[in-house]
Amino acid sequence: MNYKHIPVLLNEVVSALEIKEGGVYLDCTLGGGGHSFEIAKKMKFGKLICVDKDDEAINAGKEKLKDFNFIKFIKSDFKDIETKILFEEFDGILIDLGVSSHQIESPSRGFSFLKNAKLDMRMDSSQKLSAYTVINNYTKDDLEKILFDYGEEKYAKQIVAKILKQRKISPISTTFELKQVIESAIPSKYKFSGGCQKTFQAIRIEVNRELTGLYESILFLISKLKTHGRIAIISFHSLEDRIVKNAFKEASKDCICPPKTPVCICGHHASIKLINKKPIVANADELKLNSRSHSAKLRIGEKI
Ligand SMILES: C[S@@+](CC[C@H](N)C(=O)[O-])C[C@H]1O[C@@H](n2cnc3c(N)ncnc32)[C@H](O)[C@@H]1O
Repeated sequence: MNYKHIPVLLNEVVSALEIKEGGVYLDCTLGGGGHSFEIAKKMKFGKLICVDKDDEAINAGKEKLKDFNFIKFIKSDFKDIETKILFEEFDGILIDLGVSSHQIESPSRGFSFLKNAKLDMRMDSSQKLSAYTVINNYTKDDLEKILFDYGEEKYAKQIVAKILKQRKISPISTTFELKQVIESAIPSKYKFSGGCQKTFQAIRIEVNRELTGLYESILFLISKLKTHGRIAIISFHSLEDRIVKNAFKEASKDCICPPKTPVCICGHHASIKLINKKPIVANADELKLNSRSHSAKLRIGEKI
């Protein structure tokens, strides 16, 4: 399979994780295996667990990493792997959130408004919920909430009104049909500045439950790090980055009592120190080579 994805912030991730020979690492979002390949090269031996909920990513990763004999693959949402890594402790954990270029650009996967396909957007093709169901079966209120919350779409109400009107006539079945409906609801000026993008992003986040449980999962993964182990997380939009930032903030504080509580009663202790206060972003060379890197933000924490 020709799996197309250029890993973002590759050098920064490898240096953030301070890869040790013979260490134990977890890549929560294998994708095409670009990051894992560099991690595996530096490890030489040890254990690398690679997770993805997309069968195509697991297959592509297996192919790319076939020369390393210390890799275990798990097809799962990384938010559901607690029992599978119960007895592990990691030197490093990577989460490279969101979709891969392969998923976006595969005509059959229905992620992109630039390619006509059946409305789908499932990372895990075995799950029931697809973009078709969300668009054609969700209530007006739920759709508006999704567009507001996950797309920060200011024309959410207008777009949802048009979706509801259209689906009374016939279901919205393809990406181009959805694109047309969105464009009929927004001012033409807005069409040219990513008018469909926010709705497509919002529906994709809903279909794949991308933000649900992310905060808790980050805190859990931090608990699975060895002392001085590192966690590196790349996010691609402000909603994800806010969750990562807040989870890191909580994990790096000794007290999480509400402000103005006179004496600490929470008993919380910091479990990580923040390696970078501001997220690391792509340098000029990477920005030129890979358009996806424009929105990437890397945050790093170290277990204490
Ligand atoms: C940005 S790509 C990762 C690219 C990878 N780092 C590389 O170097 O090729 C994101 C991948 O994570 C997967 N993914 C996203 N959210 C996931 C989740 N909650 N659980 C498991 N896999 C997830 C997607 O299916 C996709 O393959």
